Amino acid sequence: MFDGSASRREFMKAAVAAGGVAALSACLDRAPTAPVPSGTTDYGSLPERQHAWDDFTRRDEYDNVEIPRHHVLLYLNLDGDGPPTDADRQTVESALFVLDRAYQRSNEGLLWSIAYSPRYFSRFDDPLPESLDLPEPRALSSFETPEFDRQDALVHLASDRAAVVLEAEQALFGGVETANGVEVDATLSPVFSVDSRRTGFVGVGLPAEKQSNLNGIPEGNPVPNESPLFMGFKAGFKKNQATEDYVTLSEGPFAGGTTKHVANVRQRLGDWYEEEDYYHRVMKLFSPAHAEQGLVDGVGNNLGDDSGIDAVVDRIRDDAREFGHVGHAQKAARANRDEDGNVKLLRRHFESTDDGVASLHFPSLQRGISDFEAVREAMNGADLTDIPTIRQRVSNGILEYIFVKHRGNFLVPPRSLRALPTPTGEAP
Ligand code: HEM
Repeated sequence: MFDGSASRREFMKAAVAAGGVAALSACLDRAPTAPVPSGTTDYGSLPERQHAWDDFTRRDEYDNVEIPRHHVLLYLNLDGDGPPTDADRQTVESALFVLDRAYQRSNEGLLWSIAYSPRYFSRFDDPLPESLDLPEPRALSSFETPEFDRQDALVHLASDRAAVVLEAEQALFGGVETANGVEVDATLSPVFSVDSRRTGFVGVGLPAEKQSNLNGIPEGNPVPNESPLFMGFKAGFKKNQATEDYVTLSEGPFAGGTTKHVANVRQRLGDWYEEEDYYHRVMKLFSPAHAEQGLVDGVGNNLGDDSGIDAVVDRIRDDAREFGHVGHAQKAARANRDEDGNVKLLRRHFESTDDGVASLHFPSLQRGISDFEAVREAMNGADLTDIPTIRQRVSNGILEYIFVKHRGNFLVPPRSLRALPTPTGEAP
């Protein structure tokens, strides 16, 4: 079992942010004694969906999925122009196969995926299938000017063990000779270079430990220890998340895959903690009814497996008039159900202290990027600003406190196409 002491957790988190071989060895020195569970050479036993994480990670007492605590995002560019070669593909597959063999696909081992951008696919003569909803990233509100992540590929590494994400990263780029005892006989280095490395963490205790001296979090350590996120509440209730089945592409050459939007959102929580009271934080994050009826206790564990937002979606304009506020979840939920009531997005967001700034890395999985864009538009609440109390960024959910810095769109292909796929769905 892992040593969950505060000082050890703090250390591991700092190590993931710093990265590199030195950080890895420092981390290993303090790693828990239990061995990291090994991977498999039986390729066929692994799920075909790279995004199949939910059955391989922890759940809380209400069956809400808890994604791993430590994360690294590696934004990669292919060296050179034009499509990759078969030899490149072979190299990439061999490097990825090291991870399969080294680590059990789980929160105690490694959960991971590799995804590809529209720009990557534009290297080929053939177009992507028309049915694939994977546009280039764009600004999704009138008040944001994000940088667009158009790198070729995105590797997402996640584990409850900080040392595992670091070692896996080193294995992919040749910083170690073995990974969990498995020989690193191929790396991504001949094919890819790392354009941007981003890190993060999520889960009870971690944001509180990391909050001091952080740009965006006011003095006085306001983030409660029980909170998995900087804003002081839990998110990702089972009934407010799409299932993996739902977000999986059911047809076309990439059937078994999914699309991934990743935003990076800066947080400025001075006023959140210093001017708002708990009642108004609940109102702004959930809904006015949640605050009025006292539905949320502490960080929200009492909500069980459902935020209860569906009951208050239709009254949003009345709430705006009566309370002068609308809730973040209340707004977003308006576009997050299909006609049968299924939830459309599977959010897998985690916090970050990259560059000394509190931010959120926000990966979201869905059948098509326009599903994400529609939810984000609903969350913008521009349609509510005709009500005098609601302004574009004030009294409008949490928009006053979050600032989009990056957006990128990617295809997470099925595992059999994970190594430099063509737009027609081959990885020869
Ligand atoms: C710091 C930033 C954010 C925090 C702290 C946050 C927190 C929350 C919380 C507490 C909930 C209600 C519980 C739940 O259903 O998970 C929620 C719901 C939701 N949020 Fe966020 N969120 C943030 C940013 C975003 C962003 C950038 C999006 C982008 C579209 C988003 C989309 C959603 C959606 C779709 C829901 C579910 C609503 C439904 O039930 O359908 N959130 N969020």
